[in-house]
Amino acid sequence: MANVAITGAGRGIALELVKLHLAKGDRVFALLRDPDGADALRGVAAGSGGKVTLHAMDVADDASVRAGAADTGDAAIDVLYNVAGVSGSTDSELESANFADWLDVFNVNVNGPMRVFQAFLPRLGSGAKVVSFGSQVGASTWPYPGYEAYSASKAALHRLMVSVALGTKDRGIIAISVHPGWVQTDMGGPAAELTPLESAQGIAALAQRLTPEMSGGFYKWNGETHAW
Ligand SMILES: NC(=O)c1ccc[n+]([C@@H]2O[C@H](COP(=O)([O-])OP(=O)(O)OC[C@H]3O[C@@H](n4cnc5c(N)ncnc54)[C@H](OP(=O)(O)O)[C@@H]3O)[C@@H](O)[C@H]2O)c1
Repeated sequence: MANVAITGAGRGIALELVKLHLAKGDRVFALLRDPDGADALRGVAAGSGGKVTLHAMDVADDASVRAGAADTGDAAIDVLYNVAGVSGSTDSELESANFADWLDVFNVNVNGPMRVFQAFLPRLGSGAKVVSFGSQVGASTWPYPGYEAYSASKAALHRLMVSVALGTKDRGIIAISVHPGWVQTDMGGPAAELTPLESAQGIAALAQRLTPEMSGGFYKWNGETHAW
């Protein structure tokens, strides 16, 4: 049994990760902005025999992240999934950018995973895994226009995970970024290629087989290495 912490757990790919880890018998700390509003997740928790608990956490806010992590107790965390993310403007902003929005996007997508990592770091031992949700649009090899704030934020997140991997190597922590695929969620839309379950299954399998040699890498949901 593993102790698993998941941000943005109320919907999308993160909700499927909650269900998958529960099905494996793991203990799941579901972190989300609005526990009272997450009907589907509360239903999962209610039937989990105490294995899934909900904890309020807005990854954009220092105090909320500290309080949310503290609310989960002091158990060691084996897998930390940084899933919470926002896309910001979907229009190209090359000619006119809303920089207040850019700050929000970076605050959630880059500062957020860093805050969450720091809050749980005292509870990450040797072999603990930090899996942060990046995106193919954050790779320079992916020729996708628009979404400038989002793609730049994900590129920053990928690089941040390299720093986390290098800085925690001596402690045995494994940190990676993963592109979850184009997924049928509120963010990905109904025309996307993968169901949230398919994406979550691939990423959970990847998390399970991570080795220290893989730390710092950027992977696809199916476990393949993603070009930067
Ligand atoms: N779907 C895709 O095709 C795709 C492709 C590439 C990368 N990704 C990445 O994969 C991750 C999951 O995406 P998804 O498709 O599952 O998205 P989604 O269905 O839109 O869900 C986004 C999740 O992030 C949470 N969130 C947003 N801001 C937050 C904050 N400040 N604090 C805490 N939680 C916050 C949301 O919580 P609320 O319910 O409180 O809003 C929600 O649970 C994201 O990082 C996304 O960038 C997705």
